[in-house]
Amino acid sequence: PYALAGRHFLKELDFTEEEFRGLIGLAAELKAAKKAGTEAQYLRGRNIALIFEKTSTRTRCAFEVAAADQGASTTYLDPSGSQIGHKESVKDTARVLGRMFHAIQYRGDSQEGVEELAAHAGVPVYNGLTNAWHPTQMLADVLTMTEHTTKPLNRIAFAYLGDARFNMGNSYLVTGALLGMDVRIVAPKAYWPAEEIVDRARELAVRSGARITLTEDVAEGVAGADFVATDVWVSMGEPKEVWDERIVALGPYAVTMDVLRATGNADVKFLHCLPAFHDLGTKVGRDIHERHGLDSLEVTDEVFESAHSVVFDEAENRLHTIKAMLVATLA
Ligand code: CP
Repeated sequence: PYALAGRHFLKELDFTEEEFRGLIGLAAELKAAKKAGTEAQYLRGRNIALIFEKTSTRTRCAFEVAAADQGASTTYLDPSGSQIGHKESVKDTARVLGRMFHAIQYRGDSQEGVEELAAHAGVPVYNGLTNAWHPTQMLADVLTMTEHTTKPLNRIAFAYLGDARFNMGNSYLVTGALLGMDVRIVAPKAYWPAEEIVDRARELAVRSGARITLTEDVAEGVAGADFVATDVWVSMGEPKEVWDERIVALGPYAVTMDVLRATGNADVKFLHCLPAFHDLGTKVGRDIHERHGLDSLEVTDEVFESAHSVVFDEAENRLHTIKAMLVATLA
């Protein structure tokens, strides 16, 4: 548990392949121990600050429950509950919180923000989502993949469909490259990750043996995939014109039963970090229905509710993997 003591987790590239794999193994052990009622507490007396400049269900709850299970305490700071970034600089906030807490979680737009926190806090800082990366989500996704296939990581093929320019696209590409997987980014070219991220992934692949494909062709991208993943295309607060443009461009990349059939793999599994727009159960979903006549966006309800879907295992695994990261860096 002490292998990563004192380390930050700001992006997947902060860990080596062996360290990343070690965290997945630790998460599986902690998950089994919790289910067996034999979990040992490694974090008694630890205090963790949770800074959320954006909303969250899974990440916040995973940190809070993981800390409680391990005997640690958490303090939740929402956008209106701290001075960070408006009345006090990130640098000063880091130095204050670093005197009071053993670790800090940060969710906000800016990767520079979380890196500034880490540079000055003097305690481990975890990226709970920025525009650039979603590293704790990757731990959960990789654990979920290992639970739903008997293949070793370097034999797993996964395809990410949709908007790959930001956190989820970047994180899937680099994580797959780090772990030697067969990674496919399937999207219109304008929605691919930035060139420097692709270059970094290709460098990692030389060492790990990963296969990297970026394609606009859905059939080519999903052929033989063990897992198909996607993420939301639009968010609350974005102008409707942006929605219109994205919905037209990404429409052919929605995950449907036809896409799953095109993998040629009857056991293919579907991943989504959630929340998802698969029905009219949300305000965004109803707005989209009204404006575009669509009942779903990035994934159909049929796929989401099918036996292929492992999205709730993936959501649960946020808890076990975040716990592993806390134990490995703080115990
Ligand atoms: N997947 C994820 O990060 O969920 P939340 O936004 O609910 O934390």
